[in-house]
Amino acid sequence: MTAYSANSTPSFISPSVTVEDLYLDSPLRLGVLASGSGSNFEAIAQAIQSGQLNATIPVLIYNKPKAKVTERAKRFDVPAILHNHRAYQTREALDEQIVDTLKSYRVDWVIMAGWMRIVTPVLLNAFPHRVLNIHPSLLPSFPGIHGIEQALNAGVKVTGCTVHLAQEKVDSGPIIMQAAVPILPDDTPDSLHQRVQVQEHQIFPQAIALAAKGFW
Ligand code: GRF
Repeated sequence: MTAYSANSTPSFISPSVTVEDLYLDSPLRLGVLASGSGSNFEAIAQAIQSGQLNATIPVLIYNKPKAKVTERAKRFDVPAILHNHRAYQTREALDEQIVDTLKSYRVDWVIMAGWMRIVTPVLLNAFPHRVLNIHPSLLPSFPGIHGIEQALNAGVKVTGCTVHLAQEKVDSGPIIMQAAVPILPDDTPDSLHQRVQVQEHQIFPQAIALAAKGFW
């Protein structure tokens, strides 16, 4: 199976990335961590299904019992496993359980797709340089949970999204890909987030392929 082959040009490709850059000759095993709606999970699953990204998702881990991502996982036949953070005394204890699950599914890359927990060295050291995160701003601007609101409040005219390798410090780490999104005069947090998400869905599958090929 090929990914992003010359014969299947993806619908979107960042200007700095070539189709060849995205070619992977063996499939990645992605363990996805998500807390919420899971639109990024779905974008990645769709890129796999359409043959654009050479990967499988052996497992989805979620931490909120009502997370909508589970419905999407069902549609893509991906086993969804709940590790509710409330059941653990420490972040490290949660991460230990997550690592156990990821290892039992023989995952080789960890994809934080809207994972609203701070990750610890327990997880990062179990998958060195193999944990990716997506953030709704052009990092290093506006890290933290209010990236969209911060950009609006700062009055910047352009914001965007970033896929980066995760490190212990939240929303830091080598940047793999970014996409810019203009801020319109009448934008609300919701309208801006929607346009940022369109770009997130485009760059995340590409960034996974690039990261796997060491482009960072
Ligand atoms: C995304 O905007 C991502 O940047 C942030 O959380 C959101 C998750 O969205 N970290 P979804 O659950 O993938 O729809």
